[in-house]
Amino acid sequence: MGKIHPDRLEMHKVLGGSKRKPDDTVTVSRRTFLHKSIIAGGAVGAATYGWLPLINTMDIAHAANNIRFAWVSDTHLYPKSLNTRFVDKANRAFKEIEAMKPDFMIFGGDLAQVGMPEELDLGEQLLRAITIPKYFIPGEHDWYLDMGKLWEKKFGGSPWSKDIKGVHFVGLNTVGQAPDFWSAKGMTARERMGHIEPLDGSVAGPWSGLGPEQLKWLDSDLRKVKNNTPIVIFSHNPLYEYYPPWNFWVRDWREVHEIVRPYSNVTNVHGHTHQVLYNEIGGMRSIGMLATAWPWPYAPDGVPKLTVPHVRVDPGDPYDGVGWSDIQYSSQKGLDNEYKMWDRDVFATAAADSGTSDNTGLTLRPRIADRIWQY
Ligand SMILES: [Fe+2]
Ligand SMILES: [Fe+2]
Repeated sequence: MGKIHPDRLEMHKVLGGSKRKPDDTVTVSRRTFLHKSIIAGGAVGAATYGWLPLINTMDIAHAANNIRFAWVSDTHLYPKSLNTRFVDKANRAFKEIEAMKPDFMIFGGDLAQVGMPEELDLGEQLLRAITIPKYFIPGEHDWYLDMGKLWEKKFGGSPWSKDIKGVHFVGLNTVGQAPDFWSAKGMTARERMGHIEPLDGSVAGPWSGLGPEQLKWLDSDLRKVKNNTPIVIFSHNPLYEYYPPWNFWVRDWREVHEIVRPYSNVTNVHGHTHQVLYNEIGGMRSIGMLATAWPWPYAPDGVPKLTVPHVRVDPGDPYDGVGWSDIQYSSQKGLDNEYKMWDRDVFATAAADSGTSDNTGLTLRPRIADRIWQY
């Protein structure tokens, strides 16, 4: 853990030294659409709805084109016989999106909890509620039971890219390019998932990354667009180094940033971290999305300075720690990143409330990975 800080200094030296900022021609705003009128008339009572700010939508304005899309990730579905809470929340999120009908929906990974066929089947079934175009990238919970076989069969392969209304969208696979640390240790598939579930990196090592082939693909894919084209890169894991022990990063962030460096208008939208996050490194901004299932605590180290963290979550309230965020950019104000928590409207105003500086050894017990992580 002691090495993380110097490494982050290196990240900023490598990527932030030029004082470059993300291009100012894109407006990204993020908010949860929550139509109580719809819900009140339906099967779900409005009174139960306050804890459900689960969907992130984005309007990207560029020239005359407007795109609205919804991001959902980290539903972590268990079979209904074990847990219906996560199923209920995912189900409602999908119903809301269908009611709103944005241009498309991106599912950002971790649909399942341990990648079992019944979990992925359940996710597929719930997703049938959505009739707008749906795009997918995998998370580690979807992938490592059978190394992505069933996921790809159901939801297609990645990486991919699509041009929609002048915006170049890229979907990456940040979980499928790891060396097979687990088989090398003689582990069964189920044992492998046992290490993935708690984000335990002590056996696996740094599984999150693009890998050489995907880096090459990304480089050649981006070369097809102009340098000032708005580019949105979807990834399950953040494309910068936040906290490696929990794979809150991609291990080849240096190469990723080298590839995106010529492009002036790049936004990375990612899942996996289950929390409000915002970062700018070089010409790229990164926005962390909420989970529908639960909020992770902030890592003991490495929360980007630009993040306005949400308040520490009430561990007794399973619906706490979810919320929505409104990010807007104007030429007068620059990027306005407003994080909100549903039904609480409470923001971090001091380190003691932030959950970022007082959680080491107190509210967040170090995991195995933290103690034995080796660089
Ligand atoms: Fe997740
Ligand atoms: Fe994840």
